[in-house]
Amino acid sequence: MFNYKLSDEAELRLLEERHAEELFTLIERNHERLLRWVPWLNNTDSLEHTRDFIKRRLQRFADHNGFAAGIWYQGALAGEIAFDYIDWSNQTTEIGYWLADEVEGKGLVTKACRVLIAYAFADLELNRVQIRCATENIRSRAVPERLGFTQEGIWRQRERLHDRHVDLVMYGMLANEWRAAGGKSSEARFGNQVKHSSRTI
Ligand SMILES: CC(C)(COP(=O)(O)OP(=O)(O)OC[C@H]1O[C@@H](n2cnc3c(N)ncnc32)[C@H](O)[C@@H]1OP(=O)(O)O)[C@@H](O)C(=O)NCCC(=O)NCCS
Repeated sequence: MFNYKLSDEAELRLLEERHAEELFTLIERNHERLLRWVPWLNNTDSLEHTRDFIKRRLQRFADHNGFAAGIWYQGALAGEIAFDYIDWSNQTTEIGYWLADEVEGKGLVTKACRVLIAYAFADLELNRVQIRCATENIRSRAVPERLGFTQEGIWRQRERLHDRHVDLVMYGMLANEWRAAGGKSSEARFGNQVKHSSRTI
């Protein structure tokens, strides 16, 4: 449906049902690592669940309420990045992401976030993008920090992960801050130029 080149070796593609098997295998391979940091593993613990997860994300895309893109590296699915929802009343969205361990440290998620942030502000005309992470998740926190987000606060024991409650730290970027930093359109067209209100997405 869409793809967006991040580099010669990496690209984003909208996740579709035909990717379910590859996604499921990737999640299984990274299960132990992901268990430490993400709350959604129970929703993808079978191929059928993974297919349902993709269907729900495609439905969100059709409803203009977010989407999930796979991150492909050297031709193989290597992670995921998403707008978890779009809160149109408050012109806000939230980015979530994860990578397979073998592709960490290459800047893939930072680059993918830049594309989604530009898409949120320049194309969707949103006002705020947020990212939240467990306070102990240093690698994840480094992403919004690298991108110039502001740390806004900590929610105590806000999320239940596999075996514990964790504090979450909230990072936010506002449209005017992004513009002041020289932000430009992503030139990404996620989907087939679907109209939402006055916007083309
Ligand atoms: C969180 C997670 C996606 C971060 O992955 P990551 O590889 O550190 O992040 P990026 O892809 O942005 O890469 C940044 C790294 O690449 C390096 N890098 C190389 N080229 C780069 C470039 N062009 N731009 C930015 N960084 C670059 C950076 O220096 C950094 O490495 P360092 O931490 O060793 O200094 C990953 O650790 C993960 O999936 N963890 C498990 C799931 C998870 O925690 N998800 C988030 C829940 S909130």
